[in-house]
Amino acid sequence: MQESITNTYIPLESLTKTNGDNGLSKKLYVETYGCQMNFADTEIVNGIMGKNGYSPTENIDESSIILINTCSIRENAEERVYQRLNEIRKYKKQNPAIIVGIIGCMAERLKRGIFNKKSVVDLVLGPDEYRKLPSLIDNLIDSGEKGLAVKLSRVETYDDIMPLRKDGITAWLSVMRGCDKFCSFCVVPYTRGRERSRPLEGVVSEVKQLWAEEFKEVTLLGQNVNSYSSGENDFADLLKSCAEAVPEMRIRFTTSHPQDLSMKLIETIAKYDNLCKYIHLPVQSGSNRILELMKRNYTVEHYLNIIDNIKKIIPDVSLSTDIITGFCSETEDDHKMTLNIMKEVQYDGAYMFKYSPREKTKAWELGDDIDEEVKTKRIIEIVELQKGISEEKNSKLLGKEYEIIIEGISKKSDKMLFGRTDGNKTVIMDKNGTKTGEKVTVRINKTNSATLFGEIIHKN
Ligand code: 5AD
Ligand code: SF4
Repeated sequence: MQESITNTYIPLESLTKTNGDNGLSKKLYVETYGCQMNFADTEIVNGIMGKNGYSPTENIDESSIILINTCSIRENAEERVYQRLNEIRKYKKQNPAIIVGIIGCMAERLKRGIFNKKSVVDLVLGPDEYRKLPSLIDNLIDSGEKGLAVKLSRVETYDDIMPLRKDGITAWLSVMRGCDKFCSFCVVPYTRGRERSRPLEGVVSEVKQLWAEEFKEVTLLGQNVNSYSSGENDFADLLKSCAEAVPEMRIRFTTSHPQDLSMKLIETIAKYDNLCKYIHLPVQSGSNRILELMKRNYTVEHYLNIIDNIKKIIPDVSLSTDIITGFCSETEDDHKMTLNIMKEVQYDGAYMFKYSPREKTKAWELGDDIDEEVKTKRIIEIVELQKGISEEKNSKLLGKEYEIIIEGISKKSDKMLFGRTDGNKTVIMDKNGTKTGEKVTVRINKTNSATLFGEIIHKN
């Protein structure tokens, strides 16, 4: 599965050279789509570019380099990027020296095909090639050659790169990259390559540094985070080490695969107060036949057994999941089984998707035989069911008190603040003399399916 393409260059006529650089400010604007891993990668890109004299900007108008960090997981994610590139063309028209790059999963999947489809693009870099950005940019400026770098690596973890994060309360931290699971619907193993983990010591020292920088919460990330493996250490060891190294830091992780969710991991989460009692455990389908076609390597019974163990060992746990509806050959009965598992588990939240066939994957060969209207009907049923479950579960939290780390001003009103419970539920509250970063205890006085509302009882 390893890609064998290395850097190649395509002549670029349209680039006007000015004075050794491209005559513009060294400002970098990165727009990020897709999963949290991509957001973490953007911070790595900013770290690499920062060391080479570029500074990030959130204002596209003042940037000399525009990068789009892309997602390929479903077709509509890619369509959105193409539309965005059409809009971005105007910047290049105004100033042909502006550099436009596609990075991330779409770059890896489509490679030089992106140049053919969108002439506005100067750079195409896959997720394991970000170290080459500065040299490809220099080369582009000097010689006008477009840059392509899409080799996947078995070792790249960017362990030595300090991500350039915005000051804040919550941080992302990638601890492993890639995926070896090859679920039949999923393009990730092809766009992100084989699994590899950062050394435990590197992760622990970054968590300590985040605490020193006054971050209050960190989310350990990986496409398949619980298959983390470094030397003798598994993911439970990594969580334990992080939890002990910085006992006041709230620690989360995502995303887990049921196959790697060990009893040791469940017990570790239960043992440490600063490990959030929240597990995102994608089930994808409630039908064993579909799970087999999806190559998920577990049955409904096995999955439910894990959920039982989690609930027993971590009584206050919050659970969320991913569900795909309309996978190839899914019958009405299969769909009902998905509704059933949702009722049985009583997830606190779910991310629900219509199946989108992806080229290269095993399921691509099976076809896409469920009509769009059927997919739509099924996803509406799934979303409605989850809404009801979330609403009911949240309503039971009325009157309860939670410790919240205040993360910022609420989108709903600038007079309100928001934060999250340990179980990852968003809470909106009055300011009450508090500010971002503070820990407070909040009593819940109103709920709906998506949000909790509360009043601050005291500062902690
Ligand atoms: N179509 C729809 N959803 C998908 N996912 C992954 N691949 C596809 C696809 N081809 C969903 C899965 C996964 C989440 C990140 O995205 O539910 O867990
Ligand atoms: Fe995709 Fe499956 Fe890997 Fe998750 S575990 S990234 S769904 S292949």
